[in-house]
Amino acid sequence: MFKVCIISCGMITNSAHIPAYRQFPKDFEIAAVSDINEAAARDTAKRHGIERYYTNAEEMLEREKPDVVSVCVPNCFHKEYTLMALSHGANVLCEKPLAFTYADACEMFDMAERNGKLLMACQSMRFTPDRLAAKRFIDEGGMDEIYYGEIARVRRRGIPTWGTFHINKISCGGAFVDIGVHMLDALIWLMGNPKIKSVSGITMQNHKSEIGSLKGSGALTGEVHNKRPFDPEEMDVEDFACGMLSFENSAKVSFKVAWASNMPEASDIRLVSRRAGIDLPSGKVYFGEDGEKNLKTEECPYDTPFFGHMYIADNLRKVLRGEAEPIITPEETKNVAAVLELFYRSASLGREVSL
Ligand SMILES: NC(=O)c1ccc[n+]([C@@H]2O[C@H](COP(=O)([O-])OP(=O)(O)OC[C@H]3O[C@@H](n4cnc5c(N)ncnc54)[C@H](O)[C@@H]3O)[C@@H](O)[C@H]2O)c1
Repeated sequence: MFKVCIISCGMITNSAHIPAYRQFPKDFEIAAVSDINEAAARDTAKRHGIERYYTNAEEMLEREKPDVVSVCVPNCFHKEYTLMALSHGANVLCEKPLAFTYADACEMFDMAERNGKLLMACQSMRFTPDRLAAKRFIDEGGMDEIYYGEIARVRRRGIPTWGTFHINKISCGGAFVDIGVHMLDALIWLMGNPKIKSVSGITMQNHKSEIGSLKGSGALTGEVHNKRPFDPEEMDVEDFACGMLSFENSAKVSFKVAWASNMPEASDIRLVSRRAGIDLPSGKVYFGEDGEKNLKTEECPYDTPFFGHMYIADNLRKVLRGEAEPIITPEETKNVAAVLELFYRSASLGREVSL
């Protein structure tokens, strides 16, 4: 049985992390949660029947000595709390994006390695049936070298309004780090983790006072318990991003990401190689002059909108028991961090930026 502590008690802890650990009651026991907001910590503990709560994460780590820590704080605190949990001897699941620069990601994974602990980013959106089927298809040789791709993550009106996602100094970016990072992670994983070489990107803000539903902006269960009041005047991050990624193996990928935009909603990935091309989420494979077939998908075993966290918890228990390799690797997550870093540098300089 692995003893778990969770740092911060917001939406993702209540809707995804606690249910994911509870999915495997023989493997995980949630000992305590913490949040600087005492009401959030107390209410979360009470809501889920967790015995202890803290307002100081370090005190929780010292007293509880957990095997596993979920770091679910807002983005700018990911590094600080991950290093803190690792230094207390815990394995760490850190919410996405794990880091915003390549150097920070390296520092975090280096510390995990030195301490002999697992550090894994909660890149929970790889595990849709179409993406898992595409990965199987590619790994079994269905495609040769991918030379071009397109990713599109578009919400009509989906600026997250319950927390601090819209404030740059806390969130370290807007739509690109929030939902773009899931697409980048899935893309890089599907492509076999080619190293990023350069990024050309732009950011824009067009819809800051046009608010959509909680579900449509990422609180997928529609529930947020300790909502922070939203003031559009605080919003200083992009709601739209687009550009081009160039990889060392010469592959190019164009991308667009929107929290809010007058376009069809999208969570699309297209990848092309000489042997075949795939289109997700349709699951269509294209080849030859008019060849088409459908990828074989398997049904998701978890009946919750945050099913990705269940896949991660399942993998975590197997890795900790020595029965599996991490499903999301340090090298993939470092590559994703490098893209985030290059993207914002490119957007601020107004030109393509190389690593
Ligand atoms: N994997 C996913 O699909 C997914 C979805 C949503 C959010 N997330 C990620 O989860 C993280 C949290 O998002 P959320 O929606 O739960 O946010 P939230 O605003 O609902 O909750 C954040 C919590 O952190 C607490 N907090 C703030 N500063 C703190 C500090 N210094 N120390 C301790 N606690 C602190 C706040 O009091 C709040 O309770 C973000 O990094 C976000 O990117 C991931």
